[in-house]
Amino acid sequence: MKRIGVLTGGGDCPGLNAAIRAIVRTAVGLHGWEVLGFRDGWRGVMRGDVRELTVESVQGILHRGGTILGSSGANPYHEGGIERVRTTFRDLGIEGLIAIGGEGTLGAAAHMSEEGLAVVGVPKTIDNDLSGTDSCIGYHTAVQVATDAIDRLHTTAESHNRLMLVEVMGRSAGWIALAAGLAGGADMILIPERPFDVDEICAHVRRRHLRGHSFSIVVVAEGAVPVEGTFELPEYPTDERGFPRFGGIAHHLAPVLEQRTGFESRVTVLGHVQRGGAPCAEDRILATRLAIAATDLVEAGRWGQMVGVRGPDIVDVPLGEAARIRRVPEELYRVAEVFFDT
Ligand code: F6P
Repeated sequence: MKRIGVLTGGGDCPGLNAAIRAIVRTAVGLHGWEVLGFRDGWRGVMRGDVRELTVESVQGILHRGGTILGSSGANPYHEGGIERVRTTFRDLGIEGLIAIGGEGTLGAAAHMSEEGLAVVGVPKTIDNDLSGTDSCIGYHTAVQVATDAIDRLHTTAESHNRLMLVEVMGRSAGWIALAAGLAGGADMILIPERPFDVDEICAHVRRRHLRGHSFSIVVVAEGAVPVEGTFELPEYPTDERGFPRFGGIAHHLAPVLEQRTGFESRVTVLGHVQRGGAPCAEDRILATRLAIAATDLVEAGRWGQMVGVRGPDIVDVPLGEAARIRRVPEELYRVAEVFFDT
């Protein structure tokens, strides 16, 4: 009987359980294989820490946020554990593994695949910044959470004539800021792809007020950067994966904007609220489709690929190409810009 493994790695997001459920229902329910779920991402693979996933064990999880397998940023390449990964595959008799993850998890998967290990990838990250797919599991839910927050902030901003800064996630790419800002009618959106100039933000806010608006909403991606030499941001500490631990840029900007414009400012940092709770319908469907496509790749023995979505189609691309950062294109930012100054 065929036996495969599955893991969820990196930051969690809504829709992971929908993906695990679809893998198990297809692999066990349809094909009669065995599926072992590794605990806490690559850490579980290095330690051989598994539980068997049965059709019964994935009942009732479709709508649940988080991941029943747990997750971590552990990376065998940072911890000298690639031999342990091989040993686990051998000891457990695993033919191959489905890794559900973002840049870090799938980057490791890409290396392993080059070294001859049988891995297939499924893209997840609320940041939505992986190449090889139009969207990643979790992104749509995060955008909805951020949009709902912006809607709520609008009414209180208006009542108090305030400048509201809303900080959303997005380490290297501003997909959430852009989408939620567009959907929520933001007056300005700051993303990593477009370095900001504080003078320009102030001038823009003043123009809005001169045109009769009494408040402004500025959406800031956590990884936004100033035009070089125009504004000092503190160094961010790094996490276990070596990525900067962002959070708080809006707190640095707000007092400066308030002082220069004279408009009272307030900050909301949405943080992990964007990653928690139930997945929206779109993420459940995306996770289900991607998971089934990944299981199909396993069945066909097409290792080393990541499944993705392109328009209406499910596609697959080599893991090495997929685990690269995909940034917001200029033309999409221009759509948002139309609403900054009109
Ligand atoms: O999953 C991506 C992400 O949500 C980033 O946007 C954010 O910077 C990071 O994860 C936060 O990770 P952690 O849960 O380790 O604080």
